[in-house]
Amino acid sequence: MNYEHFSTAAYIVSAVFFILGIKRMSKVKTARQGNAFAAFGMLIAVLVTLFNHKIVSYELIIAGILIGAMIGFVLATTVQMTAMPQMVALLNGFGGIASLLVSSSEFNLAHDLDSFTSITTFLGIFIGGVTFTGSLIAFGKLQGIVTEKSVMYPMQHFINLTLILVSVGLGYVMADQSGIHLLDGIIETPSHEIVIAIVVLALLLGVLLVIPIGGADMPVVISLLNSYSGIAAAMTGFVIQNSVLIITGSLVGASGIILTQIMCKSMNRSLLNVLLGGFGNAPAAKSGEKKDIIIKEVGVEEAAMLFETATSVIIVPGYGMAVAQAQHVVRELSELLQKRDITVKFAIHPVAGRMPGHMNVLLAEANVPYEILMEMDQINDEFANTDLALVIGANDVTNPAARHDKSSPIYGMPILNVDKARTVIINKRSMKPGYAGIENELYGFPNALMYFGDAKDAMSKLITEIKENS
Ligand code: TAP
Repeated sequence: MNYEHFSTAAYIVSAVFFILGIKRMSKVKTARQGNAFAAFGMLIAVLVTLFNHKIVSYELIIAGILIGAMIGFVLATTVQMTAMPQMVALLNGFGGIASLLVSSSEFNLAHDLDSFTSITTFLGIFIGGVTFTGSLIAFGKLQGIVTEKSVMYPMQHFINLTLILVSVGLGYVMADQSGIHLLDGIIETPSHEIVIAIVVLALLLGVLLVIPIGGADMPVVISLLNSYSGIAAAMTGFVIQNSVLIITGSLVGASGIILTQIMCKSMNRSLLNVLLGGFGNAPAAKSGEKKDIIIKEVGVEEAAMLFETATSVIIVPGYGMAVAQAQHVVRELSELLQKRDITVKFAIHPVAGRMPGHMNVLLAEANVPYEILMEMDQINDEFANTDLALVIGANDVTNPAARHDKSSPIYGMPILNVDKARTVIINKRSMKPGYAGIENELYGFPNALMYFGDAKDAMSKLITEIKENS
């Protein structure tokens, strides 16, 4: 068997591992195994590629692997869970720049590109460039280096559209000037100036497309950029005729776009609405007009007493639990309640927190058993038969306005039915709104009690109080 046949077979095996890995990652229980499957697939792909006889310098590759692995190790072990979206943004950006560099260097070396390859080369460079700077801006926004606010300026959409059209035009000229007549030809000499112009436009466009999007919308944009990085990689796969790159790029491209769609749907936003930017910039949405909600506040003693009479509790975690890093005390509280024969379940909203699976990841890290983590659809009907719903740092995902207030920006978003529980205790630090910037009418409901304080601190006090009362 020659190398070509051997590598094709091995790449197919590694692609199978990627697909099995993704399948397993869709369930919390098998997610770790899924990760291991995908990593093994990658190991096969890397090893097989290293046997390629066209490799010029093993020294450079080994140095690259060592430096990259060291940086990756340090980042993976030190980055906080709450900083994961930034980290993913950076990784997408690196994927984008890798596609840009590989595609453009192949173009520089090539003398006889066919029309299909020259189109994929253009797309690899263009989408890779947009992904790179777009991801850097997304990283900067989430890290607080670039303003989190949406930056709008006159004729923004017109300028962006013009840049896209000019780039596509240059892509055509790049192919044509090089001797390609898009439908039939073969090129002779690539035109480097045009490639440089496309790179500059793509990098500029990446900045301009992401800068108008508010910081809190970044997770959606990052998921979309993730998809772009996959498409750029698949295009590069066509350029260098590497089947595993085409397959993995397509997998990333497709899964990124599906995830983006799921997030938009759960947030009740259209992708276009996210991409056009400006969300959350208005002082307060119409439904956020002050309605003078009258709230009832409880202290730790009263809150603890309510747990003593309850037989069933549903805990609803949200972004505030992540900010406070309260997942470990929350697990402690759930164990304490279970010891008192109280049925405890967790209700997980698909967009609670700021990234997909945010709550699942935090609670799994704190060793909360998977069996008591319930998806929204599984648990929503149970609230009506539950004594106590404990909302910890969640806000928008519990706002009943989503069901009936047509003027609300979250109207139509599926929410957790916490208001249907006999009593609801809401823990947060103040009356400040959440991500959508609107007041939560739940707080004025007759069965709702506010228990103010930082989630970690408030839950620790609650645990102490419940223990003292026994
Ligand atoms: P939010 O509606 O954002 O509310 C979080 C609440 O946590 C805030 O009202 C805040 O109130 C409270 N909080 C902050 N720090 C706290 C602390 N240390 N201790 C206790 N409470 C604290 O969160 P949610 O209900 O999880 O909803 C998520 C929102 O993010 C949705 O609108 C969703 O559409 C959006 N979003 C989600 C995603 C994904 S994929 N998950 C991506 C983008 C956007 P105080 O300041 O008064 O404490």
